[in-house]
Amino acid sequence: MGAPRHILAIDQGTTSTRAVVFDALGIPVAMSQREFAQHYPQSGWVEHDPEDIWRDVLATAREAVGKSGIGAEGIAAIGIANQRETALLWDRTTGEPIYRAVVWQDRRTSQLCAKLRSEGNEGLVMRRTGLLLEPYFSATKIAWILDHVPDARSRAADGMLAFGTIDSFLLWRLTGGEVHATDVTNASRTSLFDIHAGCWDQELCDLFGVPMSVLPEVHDNSFLYGKTAPGLFDAEIPITGIAGDQQAALFGQACFSPGMAKSTYGTGCFMLLNTGEEPVISRHRLLTTPAYRLNGRTTYALEGSIFVAGAAIKWLRDGIGVISNASDTCDMATQVPDSHNVYMVPAFVGLGAPHWDADARGAIFGLSLDTTQAHLARAALEAVGYQTRALVFAMTADGGSSPDTLRLDGGMAANEWLCQFLADLLDVAVERPVHLETTALGAAFHAGLAVGLWSDLDALKSIWAARDRFMPSMDEERRSKLWQGWQEAVGKTLTSTA
Ligand code: G3P
Repeated sequence: MGAPRHILAIDQGTTSTRAVVFDALGIPVAMSQREFAQHYPQSGWVEHDPEDIWRDVLATAREAVGKSGIGAEGIAAIGIANQRETALLWDRTTGEPIYRAVVWQDRRTSQLCAKLRSEGNEGLVMRRTGLLLEPYFSATKIAWILDHVPDARSRAADGMLAFGTIDSFLLWRLTGGEVHATDVTNASRTSLFDIHAGCWDQELCDLFGVPMSVLPEVHDNSFLYGKTAPGLFDAEIPITGIAGDQQAALFGQACFSPGMAKSTYGTGCFMLLNTGEEPVISRHRLLTTPAYRLNGRTTYALEGSIFVAGAAIKWLRDGIGVISNASDTCDMATQVPDSHNVYMVPAFVGLGAPHWDADARGAIFGLSLDTTQAHLARAALEAVGYQTRALVFAMTADGGSSPDTLRLDGGMAANEWLCQFLADLLDVAVERPVHLETTALGAAFHAGLAVGLWSDLDALKSIWAARDRFMPSMDEERRSKLWQGWQEAVGKTLTSTA
């Protein structure tokens, strides 16, 4: 048997966990997926049970390897992409989490963030981290866990606790507790990492009350992090790629040159624009974030983060039973000529970029007695388009030219109606790749680069191919009218504290 030539990618997302086996041409040859429980203990709180996540990662990884028929010996390396910012702490001796993972969507620390902002700290945070002072990021979640779990602060001071984003926790478990590390993209979402110096920042740790003793080591995205512990798979597999899922998607979409952008439609929507080796500091409340670091050299991105995209469709299905399947929304949106002036502002967990209003909550405007399920479904899809347009405006205003092409991925990119609406509303060409699993592919790319399966970015570029392209066809008058209606709806939803 020759050298192994497949990569196992783990894509641990907010609502589901996927494992995908890719061959050396970047083609997914086997896949396994599981949804897992969301916990909402109070309004605005969102938690995950880390044991659910670990169970599903292991099960999906084993199943995908099994389905691929190549066996663990055929896997050259593992790459991990993960929901970012979600924070947990575990005991270094037992490996047991001391509290559930506090999810990126969780708003429980919004008052603390408001207090820190009112004390004039946002400038420092923005300069060092490229982030806003927001409950979205990990730092205040870590502090909350340390302050609410009995003895946690003293155990942390004694070096007994480890913090990690989900990648770090999975790496710890996969290596049997041997490795406590993360990559630069995940580290940069904590609010504790200086994205210019490329290291944890003592002043920020002091500000947020996070002891440095809990933090993992930080490495490049393509790096030999460790090997799977004996017994987990039939062979010990090197783990050589880690990236936050949105940066992984940018990488998997082969957006390697400045000016290239992608938008991923999963639970939320995250649009990233490659800005090259110089970080661009936003004046319009976007985030500056490392896109990837290879051989010690960082490429940066501007990011617009929208908290709810697919989650609104999930709410229509699971929350109020308006639809039976997410995929029905495509036909439903086509059944009606317009949304009948219905606007849905899906601020279920506040609003992200460019408003950053943690206390806003969702609203539906324009309901009348002849509003139908189809109008609601269409309004939910349209909201995704409007929010994306707001990001494009902010990116353009920040000096980036508006991208002439936007590469789409994520579950909602399967919705053709949405793809066309995005092209129409943004007035740009929208491209979908042949394989929509670009987040997993990005993690696989990082892992494969480290083991020499692919030589460089040019080799990865030649793997990416567009399946289809949607061209704008809406007239400007209609576009402006729709946009004006959206802006009015958002205006009514924002709280005075934003
Ligand atoms: O920042 C949160 C993001 O990483 C979550 O991504 O795909 O789980 O919605 P997703």
